[in-house]
Amino acid sequence: MGQTGVFGFPGDMDASVFLAGHWQRRALFCPQALDAAAWTIEPEDLLSVAMEDAVSARLVTRNEQGFVLENGPFAEERLDDLPDSAWSVLVQAMEVWEPRYHGLIALFDFLPRWRIDDVMISLAARDGGVGPHVDQYDVFLIQVAGRRRWSFGGPVSRLVEGAPLRLLSRFEPEERIVAEPGDVLYLPPGVPHDGVALDDGCTTLSVGFRAPGLVDLADRLAEAAAARWQEEVEEEPRFTDPGRAPADDPWELPGADVVRARAILQDALDDPALVARLLGEQVTMPRLPPPPPEDTTDPDDLARRLAGGARLERWSGSRLAHHDLGSGDGMLFVDGEALPCSPELAAWLARRDSVTQDDLHECPDAREACSLLAELVNRGSFGIAR
Ligand code: SIN
Ligand code: CO
Repeated sequence: MGQTGVFGFPGDMDASVFLAGHWQRRALFCPQALDAAAWTIEPEDLLSVAMEDAVSARLVTRNEQGFVLENGPFAEERLDDLPDSAWSVLVQAMEVWEPRYHGLIALFDFLPRWRIDDVMISLAARDGGVGPHVDQYDVFLIQVAGRRRWSFGGPVSRLVEGAPLRLLSRFEPEERIVAEPGDVLYLPPGVPHDGVALDDGCTTLSVGFRAPGLVDLADRLAEAAAARWQEEVEEEPRFTDPGRAPADDPWELPGADVVRARAILQDALDDPALVARLLGEQVTMPRLPPPPPEDTTDPDDLARRLAGGARLERWSGSRLAHHDLGSGDGMLFVDGEALPCSPELAAWLARRDSVTQDDLHECPDAREACSLLAELVNRGSFGIAR
């Protein structure tokens, strides 16, 4: 899918040096890091995506009071009626709408795919921007058309109260750069920044990263552990304290009792397979749910259709990952669900954009692959093309 290549870190820096010194830690400006021409988009193509029902899109304009946020999808009349300057349209998950952007994601293969959230594209007229703000995620801001002035760094101030955008009330940037097509600015979470378009048609792609929320993970871990206890034992496990010492202070909740309770809980929660399943499910949740399948199938039918020349194509919004549990067990994570299978097959399938009969010859187990693929077709994660 799309064009591949390498990401050009400045100087002789390679990905491991970037990861050790900058990733999650420090901003890095990377002049001429990639071929901007390969990743441009016609303004009308971006604006037509901003009109799609399922899109996640924003329009930011400015009036005397400050920034004004409107959420998409947008009617054509709204996008025809933009002011001459100082507007910005931002569209999330462009890799779903324009699958060639999976090729851009591939430039970041020095990081695991699950860590990538989406490719957002912002199109702005001169003076357009979203104001000084701070994000919770790592981002590579890729300039592909026009110029944008970035100011970044400095202390994080309080947010402007009551503003629809998470704007900073004070912004004292330490650095300023002008990004030209091909330049990339990496920002870790928590660095205040503001990008202002210097030209009409200013187009900036943001490859944004996903950091799983630990509240959600902890919730599901506790729920799964409790469910397992309820299923595995007839009665709920209880606190036990054989051999306890006489109480010194009968009103105290002694430290030793807390230690016992912790040991019971830690034992229940320290389950690598369970944590792997919950994490994999969480990080492969798609931004848009897969479309309902046009065509359903079963393993035998699918094997026949592949043998007859059919081709399976992964839906552009599907998120896949694989995990090896050891002892011959693996998991394939697909769009928020875990499917058990051999680790070899999971690794083979997770990276595939398409599958044909020829591909099946190279796969670790064609029969197991057909049952798994039939399941994926029935979920809408793969479609059957002729
Ligand atoms: C933009 O591209 O206009 C804003 C992106 C960002 O600052 O996160
Ligand atoms: Co930002």
